[in-house]
Amino acid sequence: MLPNNIDWNNPTAVAEIKKKTKTMLRNRMQKNAKETWKDIVTAVTEETEKIHTETQQYGSAIPEVKLEDIEHKTVSATTIERILNRGAVVIRNIVDSAQMTQWYENLIDYIEENKYYDQDIDPNLDKYFSDLDSKKPQIFNIYWSHTQMNIRQHKNMAKAKQFLNHLWKHEVDGVKYFDPDKECIYADRFRMRAPGDTSLGLSPHIDGGSVERWIDNANQKIYNPIFEGNWKNYDPFNGAYRNEVANIPSPAVCRAFRTYQGWVALTKQGPGDGTLQLVPMVKQSTAYLLMRPFQDDIQEEVLCGAEPARAQAINDEWHQILLNGLVSIPLMQPGDTVWWHHDLIHAVENEHSGDQTSSVVYVGSAPLCERNRQYLELQKQAYLKGHSAPDFAPEHREVAYAHRSHLEDLSDLGKKEMGFIPWS
Ligand SMILES: [Fe+2]
Repeated sequence: MLPNNIDWNNPTAVAEIKKKTKTMLRNRMQKNAKETWKDIVTAVTEETEKIHTETQQYGSAIPEVKLEDIEHKTVSATTIERILNRGAVVIRNIVDSAQMTQWYENLIDYIEENKYYDQDIDPNLDKYFSDLDSKKPQIFNIYWSHTQMNIRQHKNMAKAKQFLNHLWKHEVDGVKYFDPDKECIYADRFRMRAPGDTSLGLSPHIDGGSVERWIDNANQKIYNPIFEGNWKNYDPFNGAYRNEVANIPSPAVCRAFRTYQGWVALTKQGPGDGTLQLVPMVKQSTAYLLMRPFQDDIQEEVLCGAEPARAQAINDEWHQILLNGLVSIPLMQPGDTVWWHHDLIHAVENEHSGDQTSSVVYVGSAPLCERNRQYLELQKQAYLKGHSAPDFAPEHREVAYAHRSHLEDLSDLGKKEMGFIPWS
């Protein structure tokens, strides 16, 4: 819950609530706050070294899992431990590579046939990333192509998400926060970057709001071990209260509850090809981010890159030490997927110096819970009408598009995951 009656567009009111919140949280902190901060800085530095060592040793610090190991339940305990530490994982070959290449071509046909580039859309509708240094990524505001729906309702996608969601504590103190075996489709957009593209990518950030991490009550409970000074007890995969978090309403702030963000590669892409970068440490980086505004060099009304209705910016001014751990994900083939915890810092490389278009469809995981059920109700209507998905800028480009996905194109699994038919 957020405080009532705050005008989030009024800088004075926002500064006031930031100050008040910091005073309240300071009172929760243990007396040895300075020592704790030193510990956090040391932990971030050590983890960064491990990330670079693993990159040297294995080619990447991001753990990898094969779909067959998920199907046979043979993912090793060591790999699971690494996923929990890194907050990210690559799962290969969710969709067959040749099939995905065909679907990629179909997606290009869809935007060309429907003249995406010629549509006259108000540029003020989509401002979510406007506080980040590198502003406009090559993200297409398209939601309902056959390619996207086929990917979302793919049975292997459901298997991957089940595996991932079972890594969370979904039931805590007798409260079941979500069902790790049932997924809700969360319709998102796709990215396509041409080879040689030197327009800017997407600078490091965390989605899911920004000031809310300090101000919202549910977030204060989630991050309580950190705010109290016991950051080592903080479990990023404890699901308690996660789907009760309140966000400041804004286009492109996620209203659904997502355990992970993720994408599936439509084309081959590796480091240097304008691909995803992560700071693959979730516990230490969250502790650093949340405690950074309480340090001596920060003014009381500043939350270090957190502004209402914007992504949490991670930048040189306040978070240089975190950025030292920013690494590109490994080479991905069509049909491979990458998943990252919703609190993980991520970016898109500024330059695409490869020789092929690098393209991905965002997928994410939104397990079944009341919050996501409610979101599905909105999303179903958007799907049927060809509107933009409910969380995103209301451009509604696909209303009159030819060859859009329709209800009869969905499998039984897809209909369940979209909320059109019940699970049982
Ligand atoms: Fe993001």
